[in-house]
Amino acid sequence: MDIKKIILEKLAVSGDKYISGAELARTIEVSRNAVWKAVKSLENDGFSIESVTSKGYRLSENNNKLSEEIIKCFGESERNIIVLDEIDSTNNYAKKLASQGAENGTAVIADRQTAGKGRMGRNFVSPSGCGVYISIITRPKFSMETVSLITSAIAVATANAVENLCDEPVKIQWVNDLYMNNKKICGILTEASMGLEMRSLDYAVIGIGINVRKNNEFDEELKKRAASIEECTGKKIDRNRLCAEILKQAEICLENIENREYIKEYSRRELLTGNRITAMHGNTKIEGFAEGIDKNACLIVRLDNGSVIHLSSGEANKCRISD
Ligand code: BTN
Repeated sequence: MDIKKIILEKLAVSGDKYISGAELARTIEVSRNAVWKAVKSLENDGFSIESVTSKGYRLSENNNKLSEEIIKCFGESERNIIVLDEIDSTNNYAKKLASQGAENGTAVIADRQTAGKGRMGRNFVSPSGCGVYISIITRPKFSMETVSLITSAIAVATANAVENLCDEPVKIQWVNDLYMNNKKICGILTEASMGLEMRSLDYAVIGIGINVRKNNEFDEELKKRAASIEECTGKKIDRNRLCAEILKQAEICLENIENREYIKEYSRRELLTGNRITAMHGNTKIEGFAEGIDKNACLIVRLDNGSVIHLSSGEANKCRISD
């Protein structure tokens, strides 16, 4: 019996209510001394637990340690969740699990990534205690045409999750960056594995990286473009609750992806629409006017010669005034 795990579950479920040492000892059928030792050990692991004489124990609202038990108590009890202190990349770890048969919906979450991956071969800065780095394994049953919508649907799901927690507007910059107050707070990297005949998707790993708390590892260049949710809102965000909310919203979005309803929400939040932009179209740099998002989540761009193209992937940016 893992006493620490059971105590953590009970503390998570009881929320802001204290549970006495005696009650914990009685329900787990161990001595009060064993409970006390387990609580001390949880504190050594990094959990913030308040203990008050004659009341008992509760998780502090300032607890910043990620835990499977706490995330599950926010309504994700049926999901396979793996929480790691440190890993090179949650996407790499999740891909390995998926190739070994991990079930649909399995989530890998890390406190810190030593080699977090961004799009286009870039690095994603992932220091300890500051972010949510999460990879979700999905084994979709939908058509190959729909597979290309996964990242944009998850952008909407993550925007919904962040907004539900902090009540501040979240924008999306095509194709998958989330912004708050004109600063990037989140990036998404989806990696797919095709079936043997390349006609179906075996699995996709959806990696979401969110800057939750201020960190000191951003260089000067990154500080100009990126920030954390707490810096943008001045509000305290519980990382465990955010993980649970992302998992919930991602499941809702993926279940409904084929009706493409989420595209309306994506378009409403999209930042490039209505602006002059530059983008790469294959190997060619293009410039034009972003007219909106089509039903396949492509960016519609009107070029200066009047022709219209629909960009399905890549990266686009607003033109600076001096461009
Ligand atoms: C980007 O902004 O270019 C995409 C960043 C994606 C980062 C996330 S963090 C969790 C997952 N694991 C990784 O190595 N990358 C993704």
